Amino acid sequence: MRRSVALFRAFLREQDDPETCYSLLARDAADQLEAYDGPLAGRTVVDVGGGSGHFTAEFRRRGAQAHLFEPDVRELGEKPPEGTVIADGYLLPLPDGVADVAFSSNVLEHVADPQTFLSELARVTRPGGLIYVSFTNWLSPWGGHEWAPWHYLGAERARARYRRRTGRAAKHTLGENLFPVHVGSTLRQVRARDDVTLVAARSRYWPFLAEAVVRAPVLREVATWNLLLILRRCPS
Ligand SMILES: C[S@@+](CC[C@H](N)C(=O)[O-])C[C@H]1O[C@@H](n2cnc3c(N)ncnc32)[C@H](O)[C@@H]1O
Repeated sequence: MRRSVALFRAFLREQDDPETCYSLLARDAADQLEAYDGPLAGRTVVDVGGGSGHFTAEFRRRGAQAHLFEPDVRELGEKPPEGTVIADGYLLPLPDGVADVAFSSNVLEHVADPQTFLSELARVTRPGGLIYVSFTNWLSPWGGHEWAPWHYLGAERARARYRRRTGRAAKHTLGENLFPVHVGSTLRQVRARDDVTLVAARSRYWPFLAEAVVRAPVLREVATWNLLLILRRCPS
């Protein structure tokens, strides 16, 4: 409970204090990874769509060889981690099976073809390696991102309201850089894949019932908030 409250508080202050928010989130994600797969020290981790690199920095602090792949230079901030590669997650400049862990936080809802994106994460992960994927689903209260929760009334209306309220154009446009991804259909698609097995599906931030909520059709689309999938790469 304490963890979820701390994350929620940090999230509320994200605009004013992004450093604290993302550092906390990065430590939390690293803890989650280690809970599923043991210490990160010595592992090769690829952080795909990693934005400013907070996660990569935290993985390195824990002794991993972590590499940031980010397609958009505007997302990198002033001090991206050394060796950052400008690359699209659909086509990573990496050989097959090179990573012990492929990590992608809050990227899936920003790609038009999530399954192809997942295929690329699976391709670069070694057999037996772990894939961490989380995303904010469309019907989550935060599904509309900066125009949430007004997306429940329609994306166009929500965007227009955002502009009216802030005087700025919204960062996200539905169908361009934000896509309606759902919990149920994503789970079905992941379970049907032959390159990965599903280790866990849970709400990323919930303090309790984190796995149970994901098993409840309909309710899960609203209550999961952010779906975390832990996948294991099948032997090829
Ligand atoms: C909401 S940000 C998440 C950043 C970071 N992973 C985090 O959790 O804070 C979404 C990120 O996805 C990236 N992205 C969008 N399309 C992508 C693609 N095709 N391949 C890789 N990253 C992509 C964006 O550039 C952006 O950095």
